[in-house]
Amino acid sequence: MHALDPASPAGALDAARDDALAAIAAAADLDALVALRPAVLGDRSPVALARRGLGSLPGPDRAEAGRRVNAVVTALTAAYDARRAVLQDERDARVLVEEAVDVTALPGRLPVGARHPLTTVQERAVDAFVAMGWEVAEGPEVEHEWFNFDALNFPKDHPAREMQDTLFVAPEGSGLVLRTHTSPVQVRTLLSRELPVHVVAPGRVYRADALDATHSPVFAQLEGLCVDEGITMAHLRGTLDAFAVAMFGPGMRTRLRPSFFPFTEPSAELDLQCFHCLGRSAEPGGEPCRVCSSEGWIEVGGCGMVNPAVLVAAGVDPERYSGFAFGMGLDRTLMFRHGATDIRDFYEGDQRFTLPFGLEA
Ligand code: PHE
Repeated sequence: MHALDPASPAGALDAARDDALAAIAAAADLDALVALRPAVLGDRSPVALARRGLGSLPGPDRAEAGRRVNAVVTALTAAYDARRAVLQDERDARVLVEEAVDVTALPGRLPVGARHPLTTVQERAVDAFVAMGWEVAEGPEVEHEWFNFDALNFPKDHPAREMQDTLFVAPEGSGLVLRTHTSPVQVRTLLSRELPVHVVAPGRVYRADALDATHSPVFAQLEGLCVDEGITMAHLRGTLDAFAVAMFGPGMRTRLRPSFFPFTEPSAELDLQCFHCLGRSAEPGGEPCRVCSSEGWIEVGGCGMVNPAVLVAAGVDPERYSGFAFGMGLDRTLMFRHGATDIRDFYEGDQRFTLPFGLEA
């Protein structure tokens, strides 16, 4: 488009107008139209320049030329606005189609997951203690040897360390192990909390065991620790009995058998009455029970009075305080309770195994 002399013949102004109208009609979309505006209606457009030239015309011509220029501006503005309205409608219609949401479409349905039976049994066990006013404690799975062994009164180079089939963390001499039991949480608790303490510590533990139907290199334990003034073995028994009833129902009994752990003195193995035969298989004439091998009892863990050496390692005065501790295997408890025969099922995450335990929220 070229600048117009307003005094030039009407044909030149008409030609400029026709150019502009053609360009407006050809604008394919809103962006193109807006980009066109300076050239057809802007300060330096032919009509703007023609209007600016009006002042230099003699009076009579000026009025006539002014009318002509105004008519062209009006025509171009109208054409521009009309084209913009058309293009906006087109765009709105396109957006409606392109961004349409089908509100009737069926949502993809995610299958509902099942909580792992170990998680639910662990929470039920912890709840039983929380209901008695106990707190929950936690510790790391990669643990320092000092917490896992030394502070728990395992002598250096004592076979007891190997008894636990320890998995050591590389490099050699790092001082780190995968914790072989949850008992290091006892020491962490005594070092970090005010006395008295009543805590349970659920968690995973690791041992260099080959995987077979009844052994897994990783399994779950529940540790318990109570330290206060005047705590005796009677408190231990009462607590374990209350737990057994909360967990397995009225009448469930516990049994303690003398044993040895470096961190408790005296120490005992903790047995629960067999959930399956309720001990009847061990009575004269009782039906054989495959769950407890007709023993009537199932070994679920160890316990005892906290060894004063452990209290000393954790900075607690053994003259004033005493305590009890226990640790039990949750996997075995669960296996026996539900008649699961292969511990590997617990760690494979197959929902065909976990679903029948029920979907608990
Ligand atoms: N930590 C022991 C184990 O894993 C169990 C235990 C815990 C024994 C607390 C006594 C006291 O075998």
